[in-house]
Amino acid sequence: MAKSSTSFTCSACGASHKKWAGRCDACGAWNTIAEEAALTAGPAGKTLGATRGRAVPLSDLSTQDAPLPRKLSGIGEFDLVLGGGLVPASAILVGGDPGIGKSTLLLQAAARFAQTGTKAIYVSGEEAAAQVRMRAGRLGLTEAPLQLANETNLRNILTTLDQERPEVAIIDSIQTMWADHVESAPGSVAQVRAASHELTQFAKRRGVSVILVGHVTKEGQIAGPRVVEHMVDTVLYFEGERGHQFRILRAVKNRFGPADEIGVFEMTGSGLQEVKNPSALFLGERENPSSGSVVFAGIEGTRPVLVEIQALVAPSPLATPRRTVVGWDSGRLAMILAVLEARCGIGFAGRDVYLNVAGGLRISEPAADLAVAAALMSARQDQPLPADAVFFGELSLSGALRPTAQHDSRLREAAKLGFTVAFAPAKAKTQGDHGLKLHKMSDLNDFIVQSFDAIEG
Ligand code: TYD
Ligand code: MG
Repeated sequence: MAKSSTSFTCSACGASHKKWAGRCDACGAWNTIAEEAALTAGPAGKTLGATRGRAVPLSDLSTQDAPLPRKLSGIGEFDLVLGGGLVPASAILVGGDPGIGKSTLLLQAAARFAQTGTKAIYVSGEEAAAQVRMRAGRLGLTEAPLQLANETNLRNILTTLDQERPEVAIIDSIQTMWADHVESAPGSVAQVRAASHELTQFAKRRGVSVILVGHVTKEGQIAGPRVVEHMVDTVLYFEGERGHQFRILRAVKNRFGPADEIGVFEMTGSGLQEVKNPSALFLGERENPSSGSVVFAGIEGTRPVLVEIQALVAPSPLATPRRTVVGWDSGRLAMILAVLEARCGIGFAGRDVYLNVAGGLRISEPAADLAVAAALMSARQDQPLPADAVFFGELSLSGALRPTAQHDSRLREAAKLGFTVAFAPAKAKTQGDHGLKLHKMSDLNDFIVQSFDAIEG
């Protein structure tokens, strides 16, 4: 039986459907399903088993491979997030909101590669070569032996790359690429998928590192199906808050290094500058100690980072008081409020609660629980906590404090930045107090009794 040659794909999640519908069953998005030509594997009616392939060579686990040679851009934060430089024959996706600085970052990286003898080509489908040159002028990079192209036709790009044999190729952006063998508009799911597939295959075949730039939708997904993220080896997100100068390059997937690693940059008039000591940056904006402000000793990727957590608790005129969180998980805040209420007898009913991670950083570590609880209590009681103290520890639902990973690096970073006191879980295995006065807490109640005066309901 001949199969139909079209199918319907959701542009938000990539699910395929037999027929068109207004709403995707898989992800629930509206108006995202579009028709696209299906891939045909062979003559209709034949299964793959009917034609024999060739047997591939097998190897065993004990085979010794040479360590992956890596190319360093010389931009320390960029190399760090990649897991120690760029791996040849790999595909990297750099996603981020429009205007966040992706093109600036990659132009700087490409120019640095070119300056250190790595042949690099920068293909822009969005900006004319003159515009890219203008930006390079602003960044002081006009002397770099970087090759530019302004092209969107994938076939032409692949032919050029094949001829020029660069070691690094940057494609800005994947949404502007157009593969002429696919019948749909540039930017559509089918085009983004086909272009990513071709470029990833090219990277593997020719041993080139291909960096794809991708725009992110407002839901925080790379526009186009998630399959692009599965195709590439490494996915980096470039993020930042509006109104803040600093930008964070975050590895969310990395086949060649730790995921969750971050690199911190500052956007200046002459491009992105590395921030070697993120803690100093995030704490640099710290005001005088006030109630509700607490410093959390966190870990981002492999690095310790100190950040300020701020809470505000105010009487609420609303029947359902407000719970507003910026930079942390709102479900986790609800959990901590419940633990404070059920285990320590401290209620927040009738009070609005606002929680903010200063500087626009987003924290996902449960180790911030103690710092959040401390900020909430300090705000509720209007009692400032010592300004030279850091806090960390994960809370369990019983109110007990659980030890967190990398206890010692957190303490070391705090000591390095001039903090003298640390509130930390009691049970942690530690190599010492690193010169800090260590308050070992086994329970949230311990901490509250030690730190706050009489608490009224
Ligand atoms: P861009 O790299 O074009 O963003 P993307 O490629 O992610 O869309 O960055 C554009 C923004 O960066 C723009 O608002 C101007 C700002 N910018 C600077 O502040 N300093 C600079 O040196 C450059 C080149 C850009
Ligand atoms: Mg751009």
